[in-house]
Amino acid sequence: MLIAKTIAEARAAVAQLRVERRCIGLVPTMGALHEGHLSLVRAAKTACDAVVATIFVNPTQFAPGEDFAKYPRRFETDCALLEAEGVDVLFAPDAAEMYPAGASTVVEVENISDRLDGQSRPGHFRGVATVVAKLFNIIQPNHAFFGQKDAAQVAVLRRMVRDLNFNLELVVCPTVREPDGLAMSSRNHYLSAEERQRALVLSRALRHIEARIAAGVVDSARLIDAGLAVLAEEPEIRLDYLRIVDPETLEDVADVSAGTLVTVAAVVGPARLIDNVLVPPR
Ligand code: PAJ
Repeated sequence: MLIAKTIAEARAAVAQLRVERRCIGLVPTMGALHEGHLSLVRAAKTACDAVVATIFVNPTQFAPGEDFAKYPRRFETDCALLEAEGVDVLFAPDAAEMYPAGASTVVEVENISDRLDGQSRPGHFRGVATVVAKLFNIIQPNHAFFGQKDAAQVAVLRRMVRDLNFNLELVVCPTVREPDGLAMSSRNHYLSAEERQRALVLSRALRHIEARIAAGVVDSARLIDAGLAVLAEEPEIRLDYLRIVDPETLEDVADVSAGTLVTVAAVVGPARLIDNVLVPPR
């Protein structure tokens, strides 16, 4: 696996891959890799001839006071994991490489970026859209792989790809969970054993809503009440939102149908955790 630290090195490595006319898949990450990230790498390996992964803890998507400084950084371990998965190129720039002094251009995906996590984390999706647009321009992949776990991020990036005519296919992979249901996240590292136990209430609430939908309930207000009742079992968590929305616009829907997004966010101890499910076809 070739490790590129600069944009020039990454471009040269990708140009080399292109000589062999290979379809290139991109997997952007912030590192502290787990099975969720690795599932994206495996999907990219299956769909593409070459895989470029990136590790960059992007400062512009963290607000002041958020966890940028303490975000887990495990570069050596991450490299070994990516190497074992057969990644061709790892692009791991530093902040000065990605944002040279005077950088003043941003990508703002209006409206969607202010919803769900964007409402609780103002500016977050501007940082995400800007860095992902830069990665798309640097690597110019044919396919780019993202996790359904970050459903609002997917909505923002889908809209950006469409609006800015990026010539690539965005591929969304299912959420990978721990055996007990907890959605895998680099932020799970922040949890004590007790907090981790509490965090299970998020996936439990979603499963309860799924069961109500399977039983024929379509009214979002009723479904949210049912979910809130489960979340109330863990009064120590601080609920940010439980919403039932259109997965593309992130706007609330009155009734669920196939593809509707049921999504939850809560602060559990030191970690802000998110999870979601998509309503299956009937
Ligand atoms: P990060 O949180 O490291 O996640 C990288 C990718 O892994 C994202 O597409 C995310 O949705 C996916 N992912 C995380 N947990 C997952 C899980 N349990 N199952 C499936 N996929 C999962 O998301 C980011 O980084 C950043 O915002 C980034 C897109 C890299 C831009 O900085």
